[in-house]
Amino acid sequence: MVFKKKKKKVPSGFNSVNEFFDYLYKDENLIWMGQNTNHLQHDKHIEHALIEAAKKRDYCKYPPPEGFPELKKLILKDLDLDEKTQDIQITASATEALYLAISTILRQFNNTIASDPGYLIINNFANRFGNHVKEVPIYNDECEYKLTPELIRQNIDSETKLIILIDPLNPLGTCYTEEEMKEIAEIAKENDIYLLHDITYKDFARKHTLVANYAPEHTITIFSFSKIFGMAGLRIGSVIASYELIDKMRAGVINDLGTNSLAQQAGIAGLESKELWIEDVRQECFNNQKLIKEAVDETPGTFLPVYPSDGNMMVIDVSQTGLKPEEISEYLLKEHKIFVREGNYTSKLYADRYIRISYSIPTQQVQKFRTEFKNAILTLQERKNSK
Ligand SMILES: Cc1ncc(COP(=O)(O)O)c(C=O)c1O
Repeated sequence: MVFKKKKKKVPSGFNSVNEFFDYLYKDENLIWMGQNTNHLQHDKHIEHALIEAAKKRDYCKYPPPEGFPELKKLILKDLDLDEKTQDIQITASATEALYLAISTILRQFNNTIASDPGYLIINNFANRFGNHVKEVPIYNDECEYKLTPELIRQNIDSETKLIILIDPLNPLGTCYTEEEMKEIAEIAKENDIYLLHDITYKDFARKHTLVANYAPEHTITIFSFSKIFGMAGLRIGSVIASYELIDKMRAGVINDLGTNSLAQQAGIAGLESKELWIEDVRQECFNNQKLIKEAVDETPGTFLPVYPSDGNMMVIDVSQTGLKPEEISEYLLKEHKIFVREGNYTSKLYADRYIRISYSIPTQQVQKFRTEFKNAILTLQERKNSK
């Protein structure tokens, strides 16, 4: 079977998706709520580490293929995972880690369980290497907008090999409780299924539980430096699993000559300094969420399915406004330079219902969103009614 990736829609006014993102990247006045990157990390440790590493020109050498041992140790320590049972491979981002894990585990007859909404790039990888990806609908109060242990049990079949747990979940910001994680760990062990625990947004959560503590042999933990560390452009992350599984993954590593050494130095500095800045970032995010809630509460036809969110992003349901998410995002971008994401980036079933906004940006910018969101909805509705 030939794997086909769905072509991305080109935003109006641009010739390609790449051109669109280049425009966004270079516009310094843009309010960046459309990608879950973190613009609140102002601590100097990461910046200094990058400058120092560049000055030493160590970048003329290849770094060790598994990653600097110092960095490997620091990540495991950050997660409080046991070095005796868990091994780690540094990768150029969580995305690469996801690809490596999925290409190692899945065979053409294996099925995967994922959620809709979810981070569709992971499902694309599972589709490419495995058989069917069951995208379980979770956009409802009944399951509290997450892939519950009960839903997992209902959707397992004899070929299920992998369960994708994004926690906190992009786009909704739901997070698993310890009890849920224990139950999911039992399901994985009983059925000999792997859990792909993507913890990219873990540090924004009020409370977070690693499933690797309950099913170490059946868990693959995906770690990213893109979010809380504010290092998305440096493209660095890692994959953590049992020694046996990481060994298998290493056979599939493409970048055999190691991961960007400057990015690794920045990662070390980020982990070493984290205690100094993390609470400030988290607090600002929690405060920003409140402002967004105020805006949504004042805007008829909109609501927050999940509040508070445990990520640095949330979903605003706009399905009762009579407007399409695309119309709203286009208007906010063109009229106010506010970049938000329409539902189709994270959902197939509910794409028409919501926009996703990220709020790890300065509060002043969130204030602007607070004012303009309501105006945007009212203006677009008026335009529609006057046609
Ligand atoms: C759930 C999830 N995993 C992974 C990534 C990508 O992380 P990275 O920048 O480390 O590739 C994202 C990015 O938004 C994400 O939402």
